[in-house]
Amino acid sequence: MTLDVKDLSVSYGPISAVRQVALEVNPGEIVALIGANGAGKTTILKTISGLLRSHAGEIRFGDINITKMKPHKIVDLGISHVPERRGIFANLTVYENLLMGAFTRDLRAVELDEVYELFPILKERRKQVAGTLSGGEQQMLAISRALLSKPRLMLLDEPSLGLAPQISKNIFETIQRINSAGTTVLLVEQNAHAALRISHRGYVLEVGEIVCADKSENLLKNDLVKKAYLGEN
Ligand SMILES: Nc1ncnc2c1ncn2[C@@H]1O[C@H](COP(=O)(O)OP(=O)(O)OP(=O)(O)O)[C@@H](O)[C@H]1O
Ligand SMILES: [Mg+2]
Repeated sequence: MTLDVKDLSVSYGPISAVRQVALEVNPGEIVALIGANGAGKTTILKTISGLLRSHAGEIRFGDINITKMKPHKIVDLGISHVPERRGIFANLTVYENLLMGAFTRDLRAVELDEVYELFPILKERRKQVAGTLSGGEQQMLAISRALLSKPRLMLLDEPSLGLAPQISKNIFETIQRINSAGTTVLLVEQNAHAALRISHRGYVLEVGEIVCADKSENLLKNDLVKKAYLGEN
């Protein structure tokens, strides 16, 4: 099912954060959304997953209008959100956090094994309280938890935030594996280079507006993108 965002505008009280954004994520794609701090990336993801309300525009998933739907209904439709700074339950163990991922149904052992295969460290640490995991391990846990809700579409907000280069690399490779296994991904990243390398298409957001949309391979060669987001001249 295609995620289709049209004319989306979101404000925080009098502050306009996102203006007339249009974007599309087709089944099977990894789509990158890049932009500077405060550009509105998190706002867009939260609005798609129903945590924030837009004041204009429409969000459709397949032929279903989800613009005004409650967050848990949106999860039921197959959209899973891995929030910025992870949002795991710090006082629960790794295993208990994973159980929460499948909270609407029974968790099957085989699914848990799939997650442990993706991130073996989580198996080792399954009895550890999640709040004491390292940043990278917490990110792996957050992604795993989202995967256990069997999403069609995963919204990932800054999965590489604060991670060492090697761990980020692992996370990006894992996102590609998850995508190859059939999950569509909308990826928000400040690490524009990594995001564009693993995605099919990308959108560039500047102060609440999409200023550029193209295949990722083209965006990597685009002068504006090179200058502003890739640190090249
Ligand atoms: N709860 C809020 N109340 C008021 N303004 C907010 C609120 N949340 C976000 N904003 C503002 O909306 C704008 C967009 O914020 P958003 O978090 O979507 O940006 P972002 O692109 O995700 O940035 P970052 O890369 O730093 O995570 C910013 O100017 C921010 O200050
Ligand atoms: Mg953000």
